[in-house]
Amino acid sequence: MSGKLIVLEGIDGSGKSTQYKLLCERLAAEGREFKKLVFPRYDNESSALIRMYLGGEFGSDPSDVNAFAASSFYSVDRYASWKTDWGDYYRAGGLLLADRYTSSNAVHQGSKLPPEQRAAYFDWLEDFEYNKLGLPKPDMVIYLNVDVETSLSRMRERSEKTGAQRDIHETHADYLRLCTQSGADAAKRFGWRRIDCVKNGAMRGIDDIHGEIYSAVAGILR
Ligand SMILES: Nc1ncnc2c1ncn2[C@@H]1O[C@H](COP(=O)(O)OP(=O)(O)OP(=O)(O)O)[C@@H](O)[C@H]1O
Ligand SMILES: [Mg+2]
Repeated sequence: MSGKLIVLEGIDGSGKSTQYKLLCERLAAEGREFKKLVFPRYDNESSALIRMYLGGEFGSDPSDVNAFAASSFYSVDRYASWKTDWGDYYRAGGLLLADRYTSSNAVHQGSKLPPEQRAAYFDWLEDFEYNKLGLPKPDMVIYLNVDVETSLSRMRERSEKTGAQRDIHETHADYLRLCTQSGADAAKRFGWRRIDCVKNGAMRGIDDIHGEIYSAVAGILR
């Protein structure tokens, strides 16, 4: 018996955490049992290398750390969580909802490679996390597709609201632009369920996007 793993993915500021919260609330209100997973686990020891990387200790530009090295930082954080937090629950048939997963490496780190090298990187990533580390493959990855201008303005708005410091990914618009391309490639390669969150140049309403996500999820929970 194995569990079910559903992932929300998208570039920075695409609305993952907003949609994640709504989805969790709705499933909880329906009385469904599930466990929440939010990556990276910034408050955990296993994210030390991620914090060093995003804080610029290895270089202030994302490209200062190559795709494979940076991917490994995020992969081991997932591995630690799997071993200490949710492996048993998943093996017993539990439902897990994740805000980001392996797919974030595909989007972010894949962006550091020229398009013709992405397929080989995606193969490597899939083999590394699912075969070598033994993490479970998601049953569904929902990809929130936004353009880079939407992402930047959402993040700007958020940091004005919360005063949160932006990391080295969030301050590099060129990097984000490449993430949208890598994300599109990955969505095709891995068969992600893509949700177009921008319509006629404007972001769709939060509830409208939620409705589409909920239908996709309900479809595989039946
Ligand atoms: N559909 C929407 N319309 C307008 N604003 C939105 C929408 N969805 C999210 N936002 C706002 O955009 C900002 C970014 O959203 P959120 O934090 O959910 O994105 P995220 O994908 O989780 O970002 P990160 O990758 O940085 O974790 C927040 O201020 C949020 O309130
Ligand atoms: Mg988020």
